[in-house]
Formats: sequence, C-alpha cells, structure tokens
Amino acid sequence: MPIILAIESSCDETSVAVCNNGKITANVIANQTIHENYGGVIPELASRVHQQNIVPAVQQALSIAKVNKNELNGVAFTQGPGLLGALLVGVSFAKSFALALDLPLISVNHMQAHILAHFIDEPKPKFPFLCLTVSGGHTQIVLVKDYFDMEIVGETLDDAAGEAFDKTAKILNLPYPGGPLIDKHAQQGNPLAFKFPEPQIQGLNYSFSGFKTAILYFIRDRQKENPSFVEQNLADICASVQYSIVNILLNKLKKAAKQYDIKEIAIAGGVSANSGLRNTLSDMKDSLGWNVYIPAFQYCTDNAGMIAIAGYQKFLAGDFVGQDVSPMARMNF
Ligand code: KG4
Ligand code: ZN
Repeated sequence: MPIILAIESSCDETSVAVCNNGKITANVIANQTIHENYGGVIPELASRVHQQNIVPAVQQALSIAKVNKNELNGVAFTQGPGLLGALLVGVSFAKSFALALDLPLISVNHMQAHILAHFIDEPKPKFPFLCLTVSGGHTQIVLVKDYFDMEIVGETLDDAAGEAFDKTAKILNLPYPGGPLIDKHAQQGNPLAFKFPEPQIQGLNYSFSGFKTAILYFIRDRQKENPSFVEQNLADICASVQYSIVNILLNKLKKAAKQYDIKEIAIAGGVSANSGLRNTLSDMKDSLGWNVYIPAFQYCTDNAGMIAIAGYQKFLAGDFVGQDVSPMARMNF
C-alpha cells in the first residue's frame, strides 16, 4: 500500500509508471521520433501521438509491474507546465481512468517531479538542498525545503540550458534533439579549443540567448574563411560549447551554495544526463565539501517514474484534486 499509476505527457514522451509502496516497479517511456523530421517538437503532432500511445503504455506498465488495475489506490498525472494539447491527453486519460475505477486523482507539477526523482533510489538528499533543474524549457536553481516546499532562487531570463544545447546543434546541422549528440561528439573533442563568453548576469539568474547568438556568429565567421570549418572541427566545437554551458551552470550553482550555506547539491532534468555536467560536478564536489546527487539516466529526461514518486508523497499527505482539474501550460510551484 499504496499502489499509484502515474501518467506523463507534457512534451514528446508518453510515459506511464507504477509506484508500489514507494518503489518504482514500472517506468514505460514511448519516445516520439516523428519530431526528428521537423527539427523540433510539433505540438499538434505530439498530442496525436500521445493519443495513440497512452492506452498501450498503461497496459504495458501494469503488466511489467504485475498489477491489476483493480489493485490501484490512486492516479497521478502531470498537470503542467508543458504543451497544453499534450498535457490534455494525459490529464483526460487520468481523469477518466480515476472516474471509472473510483480512485483519487493526484496532480503533479512536472518541474517539482524532476527534483523529486531523487527520492526514487538511494542515496536521497537531505532537506534543505539546492537543485539545479535543467531541461528543454527550464533552467532553475531551486531551494528545496521539503517535498512540496520549494523556492526558485535563480532562473533563466530567456533560453533554457537545454535550448542552448539544441539550438547550437541546429547551427551545427545536427538533428533534433541535439543535446545528446553534442554530448556524444564532445567526448572526442578538446573543451579548450574555442572560447565562448560567459553571460554577465546579476545574482543567481541565467541568460543563454546571447550565448547562442555568439555561437551563431562564431560559426558564420569561421565558415566564411573555411566552408568546411564545422565538419573539420565538430568534436572540438561540441566539447567547447559543452564546457562553456557547464561552467555557466555550475558557477551560479556555486554562488547559490555559498549564499545559502548549503552543501547538499542535486541536479535534475534532461540536461542532467549530460556527461560533462555529471563529471565536472563529481570532480569538484570534494574540494567544495559538497554531497552531490545525480539522478540515474532513466530519471533525468522526461519519465513518469518521477511523477509516480511525487504522486506517492502526495498520496501519503492526502493531497488530492477533483474531476474539475485541467492542464496548465504554465504552472508555478
Ligand atoms: O527534461 P527533458 O527531457 O524535457 C523537458 O522537460 O524539457 O529535457 C530535454 C532537454 C533537451 O533540450 C535535450 O537536448 C536535453 O534535455 N538533453 C541533453 C542531454 N540529454 C538530454 N543535453 C545535453 N546533454 C545530454 N546528454
Ligand atoms: Zn522535463
């Protein structure tokens, strides 16, 4: 007790998980490869593919978890933030399923769930901790005081870190989503080959739009001299871009850790799968005296396992919502 079914459909992954008494026993992720043809997520297509995937994904998750739907105690779902049409599919499914089986409904904030993914496996961070949440749509430094008591202490003023990776990949003619490909090429390159400017932003906030423009101009200028510049230097460009983004992210995280005098430090979200970020953080933790928490790969990018663990905590707290709930494209903590 309790057994929670969780649904995630905020962007281009249809994911369904089962949490059985705090343990994730299934985490099915149906990726939508169709968007690769368009160089980015097409919201209307994402909704349609969620519609096709959701029932098979639920059946598969229940089968992997060896759970009959009549044994479930609650249905958790991502209410937002995300693409409205994509969220609608998951929210509508969760509401119908809960209504049919007379189960309580649990609303989960996607960004909180990225952070709560740290409570799936050991070691778990101790409150209060700081979490750098870096995804395709968000870049936030969050002060986590309790499961659902979180405060954003720094965030991007424009593009997210994931967008900086994906837009650089686009400039380099790499397919969408480019973040993992930059990571892959970077592993063969020299991170100090090229230097990109660090944005000078006050306090704990970030900005990546100028950074992206700097890369665009850098590539354009080099290609004027040598049209094959990108092809000949791909690994070095990727390694240098990744090195710069990781430095920008970690410099502000260091500043936040100092300001709040906190040494429990976590990362979360799709970009926390980046090997440069993971390795640099692991390397610097001893000199800073930090306890560092890095999620398992399967819980970095969008997944319903994180929705299930957040749903489990809300179930224990008796925090439920009614059938009048609706998705929210923008959603605060
Ligand atoms: O959390 P997520 O799956 O979806 C959102 O909620 O946005 O994050 C997706 C983002 C994309 O921008 C993707 O390129 C980036 O995470 N990403 C990576 C890596 N894996 C995923 N960026 C850099 N290196 C990676 N290995
Ligand atoms: Zn996400």
